[in-house]
Amino acid sequence: MRASGCFVFLLFFLFSSFSLGSLALSDAEASFITHRQLLALRENDDLPPGYEYEVDVKFTFANPRLRRAYIALQAWKKAIYSDPLNTTRNWEGADVCNYMGVFCAPALDDPQLMVVAGIDLNHGDIAGHLPVELGLLTDLALFHINSNRFCGIIPKSFSKLTLMHEFDVSNNRFVGQFPKVVLSMPSLKYLDLRYNNFEGELPHKLFDKELDVLFLNNNRFDSNIPENLGNSPASVIVFANNKLKGCIPRSIGKMVNTLNEIVFLNNELSGCLPSEIGLLGNVTVFDARSNGFTGLLPKSFKGLEKVEILDVSDNKLTGFVPENVCRLPGTISTVRPRHVSQD
Ligand SMILES: *[C@@H]1O[C@H](CO)[C@@H](O)[C@H](O)[C@H]1NC(C)=O
Ligand SMILES: *[C@@H]1O[C@H](CO)[C@@H](O)[C@H](O)[C@H]1NC(C)=O
Repeated sequence: MRASGCFVFLLFFLFSSFSLGSLALSDAEASFITHRQLLALRENDDLPPGYEYEVDVKFTFANPRLRRAYIALQAWKKAIYSDPLNTTRNWEGADVCNYMGVFCAPALDDPQLMVVAGIDLNHGDIAGHLPVELGLLTDLALFHINSNRFCGIIPKSFSKLTLMHEFDVSNNRFVGQFPKVVLSMPSLKYLDLRYNNFEGELPHKLFDKELDVLFLNNNRFDSNIPENLGNSPASVIVFANNKLKGCIPRSIGKMVNTLNEIVFLNNELSGCLPSEIGLLGNVTVFDARSNGFTGLLPKSFKGLEKVEILDVSDNKLTGFVPENVCRLPGTISTVRPRHVSQD
């Protein structure tokens, strides 16, 4: 049996980018914070036009956009329930560009103006919610709040953040359906939603976006993978550890020139592995471990010429691993279909 020539290689790379476990926020606290957010949200979770003119601010600012940023950041500070590392302690006064975790840069449309272009509160351990006022930060290109304890939903007002390039809310306590508001960020390239409690369907429009990187892993998504998966120009897509169902769409073959890593690990996917996967000559990681795939491993897999990690173990694949797959040049290629006869 040729399969014995290949060995199993467990993947830990998914879990290596941040450490988990030190954050303690009880479910009761999370639901309390979420409740506060829902109370604070107006009828819908959008900002009324001209909202910033209704707010009384005692400071003067170098330009009106910094005034709006001040209103947004003060509303956010108010929505924070716990900040054990004192990250937001200096969020006071008019000099928003000096607030910890807040980054200013010349405005793209008017280089004379300094504006808030980035927020980086990664690993802040902050508990709280995102207020609608954050929609006033219309110059924001980068929003990184990974590894905090933010709860509730991503407000609709985030659709006003049309310059957003990198949106990383991973490793928080966000809930609800896929945050469709990210679909209306036209310049978005990096979307990281992993390690939250998002649930329900993946919208097909997600795969028509010009993303470079898409992390969806470790949520509770439970739909099919939309048929237009192959429209995505992303080089990295991670679906791991959800409850996704159905087949891998055949359109995956269209990703030949762009796809580098794709991870389906630990979902409830089924059906045959489409032979189009073998077209992905630039893929270095293809991981479909721990699903319900059936049938034979397609001979076309020999086309995965650059693969370094290939894992289809813990499925219901039958037959033998084609010899040419075991001979793929990647030195840590790993294939171990579970033979039905061994069950
Ligand atoms: C944060 O501030 C409080 C009150 O000033 C202080 O007791 C605490 O030690 C500070 N924590 C850190 C991590 O600096
Ligand atoms: C790999 O990607 C390049 C473009 O980056 C493309 O020209 C080439 O055809 C791809 N190779 C294979 C084997 O698909």
